[in-house]
Amino acid sequence: MTTVTMKGVSLALDDHGQVAQLHGLGIQCFGGTYYAYGENKANGNRFQGVACYTSDDLAHWRSEGIVLGVRESGLLAADTIAERPKVLRCPSTGEYVMYIHTERGDYNYAHIGVAVADNPLGPFRFLFSMQPFGNISRDIGVFQDEDGAGYLISEDREHGTHIYRLSGDYHSVVEDVACERGTNYEYGYESPTIIRHEGLYYWFGSQLTGWECNDNMVSTATDLHGPWSEWRPFAPVGSRTFDSQCDVIVPLDDDQYHSTRFMYIGDRWRQSALGESPLVVLPIVLDGEDVAL
Ligand code: GAL
Repeated sequence: MTTVTMKGVSLALDDHGQVAQLHGLGIQCFGGTYYAYGENKANGNRFQGVACYTSDDLAHWRSEGIVLGVRESGLLAADTIAERPKVLRCPSTGEYVMYIHTERGDYNYAHIGVAVADNPLGPFRFLFSMQPFGNISRDIGVFQDEDGAGYLISEDREHGTHIYRLSGDYHSVVEDVACERGTNYEYGYESPTIIRHEGLYYWFGSQLTGWECNDNMVSTATDLHGPWSEWRPFAPVGSRTFDSQCDVIVPLDDDQYHSTRFMYIGDRWRQSALGESPLVVLPIVLDGEDVAL
């Protein structure tokens, strides 16, 4: 994948010149290689598998094909919806665990699908779906702290957005670490993602406006349990986050917990042709409480 830049908008193209199917993506660095996992939306909103792309420099990307395939029936079949795939490597088992928002035909099932693989390129094997502590779960994100603890971040329409701590094998949740609603906002924020920089946790999310963009928000805390600060926009107010919805913030230095440079990646959804939705890739500055895209 090379990156074609137009007025700050990067449209990710793979090594075949195709728009990368990296919608709602997650990125992790495993063994010095970046692995990006995304929704394949080439033919609309129904599940078409999770696509994976790899890169050594975050600029040139290779398509690695589908790493979690479409199942014949049930969840993850071709008539279902599955969004925001995120992969973590479990330090205690060495297993690669994928979490994905799974739905049936509409958005009412609201579970997290769990799939595993021995290799970051898959094939991932679907295990089960869950609702953490019985809570609704729609948009998800992941975070792995320096001590190896894994966290799922999940939007629950009834209570807010949660941070859940994962069990040692990363197959279940063991603690509801925090649950936050937005500032002067009825719901928790969605498309959630967290990173840590110089002792501060940064939690990013968007308001609930479907495929429409809005001014995305950030909150900070010195502990994942909180207290979390008020939520505030990190892009110019009214820019609708430069017409994007946040997916991930990628640390650019080798040691992700002591990185000084970060890259924001978000979706600019095209509802009529979801598979052509470009990624918006922009530098983001984290300076204590100040965050600027
Ligand atoms: C958004 C969500 C997307 C997708 C969309 C469907 O709010 O972030 O992942 O679910 O709604 O309308």
